[in-house]
Amino acid sequence: MLATLDRPATSSTVDPAFRRDILSGFSQRQKTTSARWFYDHRGSELFEQITELPEYYPTRTETALLAQYCRDIGEVTGAGRAVIEFGAGSAIKTPHLLSAISPAAYVPVDISGDFLRESSAALATRFPGLPVVPVEADFTGPVTLPPLVADMPKLGFFPGSTIGNMMPREAVDLLRAMKESLGNGAMLLIGMDRVKDIDVLIRAYDDAQGVTAAFNHNLLARINRELGGTIPLDAFRHRAIWNDSAARIEMHLEAKHGVAFMIDGVVFAMEAGETIHTENSHKYGPGDARLLLRAGGWEPMDEWIDAGDQFAILLARSA
Ligand code: AVJ
Repeated sequence: MLATLDRPATSSTVDPAFRRDILSGFSQRQKTTSARWFYDHRGSELFEQITELPEYYPTRTETALLAQYCRDIGEVTGAGRAVIEFGAGSAIKTPHLLSAISPAAYVPVDISGDFLRESSAALATRFPGLPVVPVEADFTGPVTLPPLVADMPKLGFFPGSTIGNMMPREAVDLLRAMKESLGNGAMLLIGMDRVKDIDVLIRAYDDAQGVTAAFNHNLLARINRELGGTIPLDAFRHRAIWNDSAARIEMHLEAKHGVAFMIDGVVFAMEAGETIHTENSHKYGPGDARLLLRAGGWEPMDEWIDAGDQFAILLARSA
């Protein structure tokens, strides 16, 4: 019984991959964590708030592009496709697409069942008569689609520049997995954030209200809560930097002074100025975006970009 005292009360509900990933990431010389761990309940709320910040242009720019060009997109895709969304589906972006392309079915694929069921129910209500079939799966590997859509031509939908979180090599693997999941004759509609003015980029990831900083710090709070951590949150400052050679924004948490703490019974120490690298957000120029798609087995067909050249939506077909 005493042994339970040094474990957090919620230990049994903690994703074992979270524990493994955090402990191994904190054991590297450059401490690194995967961006997927940001999204606990509080993290998802904070991300929602980020998308509404004046400095955070991607969400509103992509939504405006979809609203403005969904008819053109529909003309290229044609009617009667099954839309397979990689991610649970946004209450704002997804309806733009669904109302413009007359789909035969809608299949959101997400690893988080709760959010998936919620957003699917909302979309099903909004599009009566459209079969909505959520699939709870990890789409970084091949996904088995429901029999209902087996014979329908597919349109993959991957908005939000989520692909930017991946290293180019991982992004290529993901695109190939999507190609395999979607089968012959498939098309893919994907959002990618553009390389742009460095100050604009930095401000988008280091906003005046400090919401992005809170989002970054929340990861430490999650580690403390779920993994019995003792990390002093106020010993870390939020940093957003532009890594030019890798064409990406990096988020870090930088130790303000020397600090020692425990996670799951393991002791870690950091010196002043040392960082935990918490996120990569890769940005793609026009040529980069098309090259990435081709490397992933997709032939670019068309693209839609806002007047400020901030964000691109690309349509490609399975090569
Ligand atoms: C959800 C990965 C697209 O990289 O812009 C926003 C996440 N991180 N602010 C991004 C994020 C900090 C976002 N993506």
